Amino acid sequence: MSPAFALHPWMAERLDRVEQALSQWVPADAPAGLGEAMRYAVLDGGKRLRPLLVLAAAEAVGGHGGAALRAACAVELIHAYSLVHDDMPCMDDDVLRRGKPTVHVRFGEAAALLAGDALQALAFELLVPQDASIADAVQARLCRLLARAAGHDGMAGGQAIDLASVGLALDEQQLRTMHRLKTGALLRGSVLMGAACGEPGPAATAALGRYGDAIGLAFQVVDDVLDVTADSATLGKTAGKDAEQDKPTYVSLMGLERARAHAADLRDEALSALAASGLADTRALAALARMVVDRDN
Ligand code: IPE
Ligand code: IPE
Ligand code: MG
Ligand code: MG
Ligand code: MG
Repeated sequence: MSPAFALHPWMAERLDRVEQALSQWVPADAPAGLGEAMRYAVLDGGKRLRPLLVLAAAEAVGGHGGAALRAACAVELIHAYSLVHDDMPCMDDDVLRRGKPTVHVRFGEAAALLAGDALQALAFELLVPQDASIADAVQARLCRLLARAAGHDGMAGGQAIDLASVGLALDEQQLRTMHRLKTGALLRGSVLMGAACGEPGPAATAALGRYGDAIGLAFQVVDDVLDVTADSATLGKTAGKDAEQDKPTYVSLMGLERARAHAADLRDEALSALAASGLADTRALAALARMVVDRDN
């Protein structure tokens, strides 16, 4: 049996690296206050789950550390941009995010729109450094994975379904598709980008894809549950929004208990995929899968 894995020290070291890199790479001096809005959106808050997944997957495949840190920050920038836009009045109309007023409340709607745009562009810029520190083929793979995860067949597509589904009773298959796209795609993409920093074989890559799929969906199922069960102070965002806005969720579809049980099943599916991956050390990925389901914010 492999020795016990201490997630907290593992996380603390990596969170530190990610925070420092984000702070270095998100510019303060963009014109006309844009930098201030970008930094406000990204720094000081967030669980940084996506960067942790990138780094854990890269470590599991013995990937290039410099590429992994850039990929970790790039995914977080896409995620931060998606939150800025998700909170705008034309979408979920939220005033609280990561325990602070949302970007459009603090800086205005036009600044929020532009901060999101600029964060998205910066994410891709990070993946193509001017020096030769990352092989061209790895840069291209990372860009493709991130573009796929963020775009029409990923996060943006899922958000379109979300907005089109207000007031509708989706069946389980429709809801799964929406959640896989709006949230799952970026989590799965994080895992695959970490893997792309190394050279895992096709079987390990496929297993990591199944792991990413399962935790990606589990993550949004738990987000739906927490919207009902947690309070705004714990969440750092307004609780109870889904019912208020009549959004279809796993809780509205199957009730709290079955939604929780479903998330636990998905975690087990993720753990089975890791066990079948043939990779030597997947303990950090396993611990993150448990954290996704057991979290309280
Ligand atoms: C919230 O994501 C939005 C969803 C995709 C459900 P997180 O819960 O990861 O938000 P932060 O990054 O910790 O603020
Ligand atoms: C958001 O889903 C998914 C994104 C792509 C941002 P939600 O709208 O449920 O996320 P929260 O609950 O506002 O964080
Ligand atoms: Mg939303
Ligand atoms: Mg929202
Ligand atoms: Mg939510």
